[in-house]
Formats: sequence, structure tokens, C-alpha cells
Amino acid sequence: MKRKIKLFEPSIGKDEENAIKRVLKSKFWASGAGTGKVLEFEKKFKKYVNSKNCIAVNSGTAALNLALSIYDIKNKEVILPSFTFVATANAVIMNGGKPVFVDINPYTLNVDTEKIENSITEKTKVLLPVHFGGLSCDLDKINSLSKKYNLKIIEDAAHAAGTNYKSKKIGSHGNAVCFSFHPIKNLAMPTGGLISINDKNHRKISESLCAKRWCGITNRKKTDYDIKQIGKFDAIHIFDVLEHVNDPISILKKSYSLLKRGGIIVVEVPNDFNPLQKLAQKALKKKEWWITFYSWSKTSGNIQHLNYFNFSSISDLLKRIGFKIIIKEATFPLEIFLLMGQDYIKNPKIGKKIHLERIQFEKNFEKRKEGQLKRKIYQKLAEIGIGRTAIIYAKK
Ligand SMILES: Cc1ncc(COP(=O)(O)O)c(C=O)c1O
Repeated sequence: MKRKIKLFEPSIGKDEENAIKRVLKSKFWASGAGTGKVLEFEKKFKKYVNSKNCIAVNSGTAALNLALSIYDIKNKEVILPSFTFVATANAVIMNGGKPVFVDINPYTLNVDTEKIENSITEKTKVLLPVHFGGLSCDLDKINSLSKKYNLKIIEDAAHAAGTNYKSKKIGSHGNAVCFSFHPIKNLAMPTGGLISINDKNHRKISESLCAKRWCGITNRKKTDYDIKQIGKFDAIHIFDVLEHVNDPISILKKSYSLLKRGGIIVVEVPNDFNPLQKLAQKALKKKEWWITFYSWSKTSGNIQHLNYFNFSSISDLLKRIGFKIIIKEATFPLEIFLLMGQDYIKNPKIGKKIHLERIQFEKNFEKRKEGQLKRKIYQKLAEIGIGRTAIIYAKK
């Protein structure tokens, strides 16, 4: 008989259940700000390990990625043990550094500290020991090497919440110490991580980490916020936004400034006043049904669009800001259904039916691996300004 051995079985009781229920019921889930539990946890953990600050993140992997981002390791070397979880080395590569593996001691499974010095070069910037299986590394030796060669210490303490090194908790030693609260870890959560900071610049570092864990936002007042901490983006996708906002130009300008040179913006807006829409309007003797703004006062709450675009207006706007248009693409010209007599305006039943038909039409291309043909058709439609929405790819 086969018996399954559970990889983990976290212990949860009524207290945990009630705490989760309180958070769920608060309906403030984003960024952990809602019931203040994340902040409370950070404070308690900081007191527990006795560090200068603690910043909670969503995993041990994120903790390593962010901790390494503090010390600009681009083209630098980071020394880590040859035996660890892949996230330790991935985080180095993600930050543009080179992982340099050092053998482990087979009795402790931790990095063999006697072998570290041989691997230190002019390019070494960080020592990244892992407290494997919760057994602490020889931090005295690691500390003395860090002082001798002026290296930062970032500890991977994914397995070591609660571990002591010489009567001090892991979390209180290195410049930054990264914990994981993955379900198989000794402090288990559905997922979670934390960076404990002891660096003398802990205030600045904490500020930067707080921004990085929240899309680079450093300062938020009501609906306004800034994004200072995050680097430049390769791509920005603005989908179903510009028609709803007061100032679409400022959003496009901000996107331009946030993109790397050569970065791509993809914008999708409803393609209003397009030739088929106008034809259908005449054929069905309708008012301009897509203009919802003016009917707002009558059907309160029904405000949908503030701005109306078509292929040429959105392209011109992007060009004025400095973008170079590379591809124009339409989506299915739904007005064809109107011209075929299927009046879906204000008729959800017909609306649903025609959407299913459109999906069916498109699925046929995907199923037969003719996605490129579909794109070509939609790009041709875009050339004559037809399509329910206008999609523009543009380059900085
Ligand atoms: C040594 C080590 N570092 C980092 C991690 C990554 O932690 P997480 O799974 O929370 O991203 C793990 C997870 O197993 C780990 O074992």
C-alpha cells in the first residue's frame, strides 16, 4: 500500500483562523496596510531578532532579490555556497552580478568558511552565506573576511527563523538578512519573506526597500503618488485607461519618462467615430450611442468615457510626445454585427451572443496555428481605421 508522506503540515489553530478572517472581512488587503498586521509583524520580528529594521515582502526569493539590489552588484561577484536553493544564485544573476560558488562543509552543509578567502577577487562585493537547514554558519569567520576585504554580508536565512548564533538571533548580524516564510519553513505562511537590516544606513535602505516592494512608489497622498525608486521599464502597457482619465497626455508623458531608450509602449483605446461605427449609425438611424458621457446625468453613474480616440488621434498624440509608431492593430470590428442586423446596443442578450461569435472566429485562427494571419487581418483593418479598439505599439 502506498502511503503519502506530507512535505509539510503547518500547524494552525483558532487564533490563526480568526486572524485571517479578520483580514478577509476588513476588505483592505492591498499592500498589507489594511489591518496593520504587516507593520505589526515587522515590529515584532525586529524586536525578536534585535535588528535595526525589518521589511516584510512576499517571499524569500523577493527578499534576496531586493536585498541584493541595495548594493549595486552589477558586474561584481557574490560568494555563496555550492549547495542551496536555486533562488540564492538566481537573485545574484537577477541583479546583474556573478555567483561564485564555494564548497560546503559536508558535516554542516554550510559554506566551508576556510575556502571562502581563495575565491575573493577584486570584483567580490558580497558574501552570501546560507544557514542551511537552520544551522547557523560560522559568522565570526565571515565577519572577519568582510572586514578584511570590505565586503557586505547578506545572509540567506530562509531556513533560519529562530536560529541563534552564539546566543544572538540570526537576523541581527549581516548587513541584510533574508528570511522565507514559505509553508515548509519553520515559520510558515501561505507565502512570505522578510529582510532584516543591520546596515548603518538602515533608514535609507528601509525607505528604498519599502518603495521597491510597492512598484517604486515612495510617497502617496490620496490619489497622487510618485515613483522615484524604480529603474526604467522595457515596456509599458496602457489598456483601457486613457479614455477614462482627466489628463491622458500627462500619463503618456510620464510613461515616456519611465521607459528605457528603445522601450515599447502598447496603448489600447476604444476606436470611436470609426467609419463602420458611423455607417452603422446611419444605417440603424441611431444617435451616437457610444458617447456615454452626455447621458451621465440621466443615467446616473453610467459615466464611461471622458475622452474619445481613433487610430489617427492616438497615434498623433504618441508622436507629439516623442514616440515612434511601430505597429497599429485593430480588434474585431463589432459594428459588422450591427450592419448584419444584430443590434446589440443596449441588448445584453444579443451582446453576449455576438461576443461568443467573435471569440469563436478568433479561436479558429489560434486552433489552427494561424495567429499571425489573424494579426495581419487586424493590422490591415487598422490601416483603414477600422476595428472596435485601436492598439498602438510605439517605441521611445
Ligand atoms: C535557501 C533558500 N533560499 C531562498 C529560498 C526562497 O524562499 P521562497 O520560497 O519563500 O521564495 C528558499 C526556499 O525554499 C531556500 O530554501
